[in-house]
Amino acid sequence: MAALEARGIDCRYGSRLAVRGASLRAEAGTLTALLGPNGAGKSTLLRALGGIGRFTGSVLVDGVPIDRLSRREIARQVALVAQDPPADVPFTVYEAVLMGRAPHQGRLALEGRRDREVAESAMRDAEVELLAARPIDQLSGGERRRVFLARALAQEPRILLLDEPTAFLDLGHQAKVMERASALARRGLCVVAVLHDPNLAAAWADRAVLMREGEIVAQGAAGEVLDRSLLEELYGARLVCARGPAGEGPFFGLSAPSRS
Ligand SMILES: Nc1ncnc2c1ncn2[C@@H]1O[C@H](COP(=O)(O)OP(=O)(O)OP(=O)(O)O)[C@@H](O)[C@H]1O
Ligand SMILES: [Mg+2]
Repeated sequence: MAALEARGIDCRYGSRLAVRGASLRAEAGTLTALLGPNGAGKSTLLRALGGIGRFTGSVLVDGVPIDRLSRREIARQVALVAQDPPADVPFTVYEAVLMGRAPHQGRLALEGRRDREVAESAMRDAEVELLAARPIDQLSGGERRRVFLARALAQEPRILLLDEPTAFLDLGHQAKVMERASALARRGLCVVAVLHDPNLAAAWADRAVLMREGEIVAQGAAGEVLDRSLLEELYGARLVCARGPAGEGPFFGLSAPSRS
């Protein structure tokens, strides 16, 4: 049984269908990359996978329909890091990360030692421990994204949904976030990440799902789906695809007109 399964998901905003008939399976222990042009419906589908927003069709978490689970039960299993984490949060980094523990605490209980340890370890993993005492509304865009990643890790979810986790991050932090996401998958989590860079997907994802105009147009092993002609069609852009001297890659780049 897949950790996460979507069957025939439709999402509407008013009368507009933003996601149409999306079906996918994501297994525990795998990292799935979700790619597609702006407006393709990636964030909308990812939120539906986390039980957020209105949709028809079914999302199953370990075979259980997500609409049969309470918000709190969902939050113990599924963590979603949104594309635009809120900026005007009146908390320090440590406080916000500790809030990730809420689904595991009793209704009136204060956090215990284990909650603090998990929050501190999540802050180390997302490299925000040095920011612990800083108010969130004073952080840079990339720092804030890492804080919300830490909060999701503190949730200790079995399913981690990441919407553009590498946006606004420098190359070093992009590599660290992807390394972390793939390490979590190797530890048994089911990770689904929206990515705009096929190179990150090719380097770290096990599976890839391509979306265009609300529909899933291809899905399968990353090595097969991340194909130059499929990606050219997906993005409507000319690409070059290369391999490193020892067969590393594939590496994709935009094919710009020669300037010589
Ligand atoms: N709150 C909303 N109300 C109305 N339409 C929306 C809303 N959110 C998204 N949409 C529309 O739904 C479609 C899918 O949006 P979505 O945010 O899922 O795309 P995306 O693939 O994540 O794009 P991006 O790569 O730009 O993040 C778009 O056409 C968008 O304009
Ligand atoms: Mg999006």
